[in-house]
Amino acid sequence: MRILVVGGGGREHALVWKLAQNPTVDRLFAAPGNAGIAREATCVPVAAHDLRGIVDLVEQENIDLTVVGPEAPLVGGLVDELEIVGRRVFGPPREAARIEGSKAWTKELCQRYGIPAARSGAFSDVEPALEYLDSLEPPYVIKADGLAAGKGVVIAEDRAEAVVAIRACLVDRVFGEAGATVVVEEHLTGREVSAFALTDGREVLPLVMAQDFKRVGDGDTGLNTGGMGSYSPVPYVDEATAARIWDEILARAVRAMESEGVRYRGVLYAGLMLTDEGPKVLEFNCRFGDPETQAILPRLRSDLGELLLACVEGNLSNYRALFSPETCVTVVIASGGYPAEYRTGVEIHGLGDAEAVEGVLVFHAGTAEREGRVVTAGGRVLAVSALGATAAEARARAYEACSRISFEGMLYRRDIAERVAQEGR
Ligand code: AMP
Ligand code: GLY
Repeated sequence: MRILVVGGGGREHALVWKLAQNPTVDRLFAAPGNAGIAREATCVPVAAHDLRGIVDLVEQENIDLTVVGPEAPLVGGLVDELEIVGRRVFGPPREAARIEGSKAWTKELCQRYGIPAARSGAFSDVEPALEYLDSLEPPYVIKADGLAAGKGVVIAEDRAEAVVAIRACLVDRVFGEAGATVVVEEHLTGREVSAFALTDGREVLPLVMAQDFKRVGDGDTGLNTGGMGSYSPVPYVDEATAARIWDEILARAVRAMESEGVRYRGVLYAGLMLTDEGPKVLEFNCRFGDPETQAILPRLRSDLGELLLACVEGNLSNYRALFSPETCVTVVIASGGYPAEYRTGVEIHGLGDAEAVEGVLVFHAGTAEREGRVVTAGGRVLAVSALGATAAEARARAYEACSRISFEGMLYRRDIAERVAQEGR
């Protein structure tokens, strides 16, 4: 089998690493990939959002299965384009990717089908948005409807801040068309968790949960990022809560879309808040999480290629996903300045020493090769994952590996999985 992975981040490196273990895979390609992916796959310089370029590559290289990592090509319709030319592709078609591509559409779906979610309203004019705002208590949550590269959510402490965020979206169009509609949402409190399930459109196969650390600074301070670390499993989700997450949220969402005539295939990712009233949806994503994937796939004992193919071919009910009971902790190493301005082209040292730590896998995100050296090429540079019998052991291994890596300006959080490790689970 010849597989193409679309994307070039830490998530895609983890996907490539795991897919490479399938004995029927004889060639792996990535577009565009990165320096780490290049060790296991042929990297082709085609951007993930270049739909025409990806379709051409699939035809040229006679790819049997394309696995799409990021949301933009899914929301843009890459799956539809590949299916038109008769190619197998893992991921939802454009219409189904709306579950991530339009928060307003998804909110309505949740309301209609009783999927527990934060109370919210969607508006394209300022006045009614403000009226709705006044029916909620501060802090307020303001979200751009469409894709905004993780920057479209504002938690406003007071009304004045909320008004600024609503106007920025609807009037100043800081997110362009993605902000032509704004979602105003009640603020939920609790612990967050990311839950992932595979589906072929009928069968919904729960995978596992992970926690993502979104803020750049220790103790959840500073700016929101794409994710600074993660770990899996999540011990504070009890069995009853987990059952509700799989049944009342993920499976129900797939059924809801089916009832609407939308067949969802691929992985469905629910970003959840565990509130006093039970788990509630903050967002759905139409892809694997980054950096959650880097903490989940090291635990997967089943063959990933077979599972993804089963989603595409509609026979997922014949498969099970087995996971190691070990904990995997992932620490993201970023460029100094991230998520704002940062330098690239900085040489990275110590990768081999880091990989020598027991249980450790170093996934590359923003890296490139220059004259035989690995240099930084993005904001999130590496995702250092470590397996351990306990969260404490996995965490110690991950941080030992991080301490062996160095590059000018590098930054990482010191408190990934600290709380669960202290809780002794
Ligand atoms: P999203 O992109 O929708 O996941 O939002 C990014 C982050 O904003 C989430 O991971 C949460 O930490 C926070 N967030 C989003 N919606 C809410 C909400 N309704 N209440 C509290 N926090 C939220
Ligand atoms: N970890 C957050 C995301 O993948 O959207």
